[in-house]
Amino acid sequence: MQRIYLYSRFERFWHWSQAALIILLILSGFEIHGTWNIWGFEKAHSLHVISAWGLTGLVAFAIFWHFTTGEWRQYIPTFEKLKEMISYYTGGIFKGEPHPFEKTKDKKLNPLQRWAYFKLKVILFPLQFISGFLFLYYNDWKTLGIDLTLEPVALLHTLGGFAFLAFLVIHAYLTTTGHTLFSHIKAMITGWETTGS
Ligand code: HEM
Repeated sequence: MQRIYLYSRFERFWHWSQAALIILLILSGFEIHGTWNIWGFEKAHSLHVISAWGLTGLVAFAIFWHFTTGEWRQYIPTFEKLKEMISYYTGGIFKGEPHPFEKTKDKKLNPLQRWAYFKLKVILFPLQFISGFLFLYYNDWKTLGIDLTLEPVALLHTLGGFAFLAFLVIHAYLTTTGHTLFSHIKAMITGWETTGS
């Protein structure tokens, strides 16, 4: 058994506040869409816009932190051990095989995580922010010289909402696949991860 310090105070704060904001955005966003009724349309809309601004500020801080600390390098995608990871999560995990990737402070993301978070940061977040802000400033499009129709923007934003929801479900499942059921969650609360080796 080994304990390693993986997540700094800032990373833990960023992770949990981002999770809370994304959950609020999904709940309020799908209420705006008409999927369910929790707060009523007006409140859901205000909540969505407030959380969107909150997430915008948080992401700006996180980008600054990643570049000043050099931690952005942890997200560079790699094909090394990717096959092993896929065969582990589609078979080995159910037979109790050992995890093919050993986390260290300098390499804390396995290849699948690197690909997933890279796509999240480079595709999904920008898509959601751009379509969200276009949505928000729809009344100013003429002044801003934006020549678009609302339908594709709305469609992209809704599809992005579904993608975030799918990410959240898969992410929540994967948190349970550590050394113990809650070892990954505990690590993101305390900073310390317990590994099997
Ligand atoms: C994780 C991030 C986000 C998720 C999951 C999300 C999800 C959603 C969903 C599902 C809708 C309903 C769309 C529809 O009616 O079909 C929506 C609406 C909306 N979103 Fe987001 N959103 C996110 C981020 C943002 C951001 C960053 C902004 C920027 C301000 C934003 C602004 C808006 C606005 C203004 C609407 C309402 C449009 C209206 O008045 O009908 N969203 N969002």
